Amino acid sequence: MTFPLRIALIGAGVMGRQHCQHLQRCDEVQLCAIADPGPQAEAFAAEHGVPYFADHRWMLEQVRPEAVIVANPNALHVSTALDCIAAGIPVLLEKPVGVHLDEVRELVAASERHGVPVLVGHHRRHNPLIARAHELLRDGALGRLTTVTALWQLQKPASYYDIPWRREPGAGMLLTNLIHDLDLLRHLCGEVRRVQAFTSNAVRGFANEDCAAVLLQFENGALGTLTGSDAVAAPWSWELDSGENPVYPRQADQPCYLLAGTDGALNIPQLKRWHYAEPGAGWHQPLLQEQEGYPHEEALDRQLRHFVQVARGLAAPLVSAADAGRTLALIEAIRRAAECGQACRPETI
Ligand SMILES: NC(=O)c1ccc[n+]([C@@H]2O[C@H](COP(=O)([O-])OP(=O)(O)OC[C@H]3O[C@@H](n4cnc5c(N)ncnc54)[C@H](O)[C@@H]3O)[C@@H](O)[C@H]2O)c1
Repeated sequence: MTFPLRIALIGAGVMGRQHCQHLQRCDEVQLCAIADPGPQAEAFAAEHGVPYFADHRWMLEQVRPEAVIVANPNALHVSTALDCIAAGIPVLLEKPVGVHLDEVRELVAASERHGVPVLVGHHRRHNPLIARAHELLRDGALGRLTTVTALWQLQKPASYYDIPWRREPGAGMLLTNLIHDLDLLRHLCGEVRRVQAFTSNAVRGFANEDCAAVLLQFENGALGTLTGSDAVAAPWSWELDSGENPVYPRQADQPCYLLAGTDGALNIPQLKRWHYAEPGAGWHQPLLQEQEGYPHEEALDRQLRHFVQVARGLAAPLVSAADAGRTLALIEAIRRAAECGQACRPETI
């Protein structure tokens, strides 16, 4: 008989609490401690009947969890994950993997040196609809992928920014939100060779961008655009369109990604696929539409079960620190491109 994996949570804010809900309904795991210096965390730990620690290092020493979920502010991700790795404890680390590539390189090296796996929380890759889209692209259902259009346009309420770290360097729309879309684009469409970009903070006026327009050139020759804003009353985003998280009222008929190839096109998250009866038939012929199916299962539940396998040494991370580092490299290239006005290549990890 296998006992539930004893998992501790570091960082019990919005995302940490979401992880807790998933921990509670998975019989393969057991929440064993919470570490968070914030004012509400102790009461939250008491509600869950687990020991509370203000300092995660003390928790690691005292509780010796078998695995840890880290959901603290972005700028603390790498240092916290390094503490877990030094203690030999596998980590599910929320995205972004870090805020600078240099610290991520250190994390990748430490994970390899100690043989302790890190799974990064780009949970959308675990969504069954993305798994199906990935299969379709891999199997050539669209022919040669040619153009990619990605949208992330919604409105965060002003109160979202009441929490100071969300307004500071190390946060921002690129690193907090578009990183998810860029990670999915890499996963579905392949690595990006070069980017060009404009960013703006004209609406909110914070140190970080609230609007971005990005041009993407993929290694396979496909070209793409990603436009994002967190300050517009608009329905085009994974959050509103996918129905993945019920806290966002859904716009089920609106797509956020449009992928087009020489033999077909696919919209996401609806997973409608268009093609001609005869490949290459062209615009005078009816364009046929198919509805692709996929099993309905929550991405965070699937990610958690995958993490159990990773922590037990039975699976390699679907999103390793090095892989997530390549998505971070893309964010850094976009920032550089926006600053210098030139096309930029993502650095290698
Ligand atoms: N996967 C996703 O879709 C998703 C969604 C939201 C947030 N996130 C990520 O989760 C992380 C947390 O975001 P959030 O919105 O929950 O933020 P939040 O501010 O609501 O929560 C952060 C928590 O970390 C705690 N904290 C601060 N310093 C700490 C420390 N030294 N040790 C332990 N805990 C500490 C804070 O007290 C707070 O409770 C971020 O990295 C964010 O990018 C991921």
